[in-house]
Amino acid sequence: MRILVSAGPTREALDPVRFLTNRSTGKMGYAIAEAGLDAGHDVTLVTGPVALQPPAGAAVIAVETAQEMFEAVRNEAPAIDVFIMTAAVADLRPANPSRSKLKKRELPRNEAGRVVLELEPTPDILASLPDWRSPRSLTIGFAAETTDHQKHALAKLTEKRCDLILLNDVSRRDIGFGADENEVHLLYPDGRIEPWLRMTKKDVGRKLIQTAETLWNAKAGAL
Ligand code: PMT
Repeated sequence: MRILVSAGPTREALDPVRFLTNRSTGKMGYAIAEAGLDAGHDVTLVTGPVALQPPAGAAVIAVETAQEMFEAVRNEAPAIDVFIMTAAVADLRPANPSRSKLKKRELPRNEAGRVVLELEPTPDILASLPDWRSPRSLTIGFAAETTDHQKHALAKLTEKRCDLILLNDVSRRDIGFGADENEVHLLYPDGRIEPWLRMTKKDVGRKLIQTAETLWNAKAGAL
């Protein structure tokens, strides 16, 4: 299979010095990429800025912003069989990033004297995949939740038209952002929910690649 994995955070510049980002370290995505290579698949890793060494053999596309990640995924999409989207893409970015370092005194303020930052939405990469991908391909998303986990993950599964979504609780320190382990629930469009016990991200990667192989073979056979 030709697998594309998105990984890590994105950075959205306020000015040349400051940016908005999140706590993703890339561990989950890199573990999946490595598992895909170990299983003999072609892997393209579209990665935000992280401190990890990419697995040998992956085609690496390094990006910084959500817009760059969107463009990289769209360019690769026609040749991909399985998309696994673990990246923590910023949903919002500064609407008017400055070319020069912003001076504290010059920032726009409201009546309460608070600095006001205008943000705009970034493109939703996973949600737009059905517009470019081959109908034979498979899209697997991740849902990073802190409350009403299954309700929010189910909404993302439907709204982003995924074949499968992996729900993880990012309010827990022992799993989620930066941890070496994860505990996920797999949510399928037919309503099935499959809990996986807590395990290393490497093992989640291995099991997920096996699951993707089964789903992709079933989809290819059905078409
Ligand atoms: O990198 P680690 O430190 O190992 O942490 C792993 C992780 C917690 C980042 C990972 O397991 C995880 O949950 N990834 C999804 C993070 C996320 O942004 O989730 P979300 O619920 O906001 O987004 C849902 C899905 O839409 C994700 O597949 C995301 O990649 C995708 N998305 C979101 C926004 C956007 N603009 N474009 C997208 O493609």
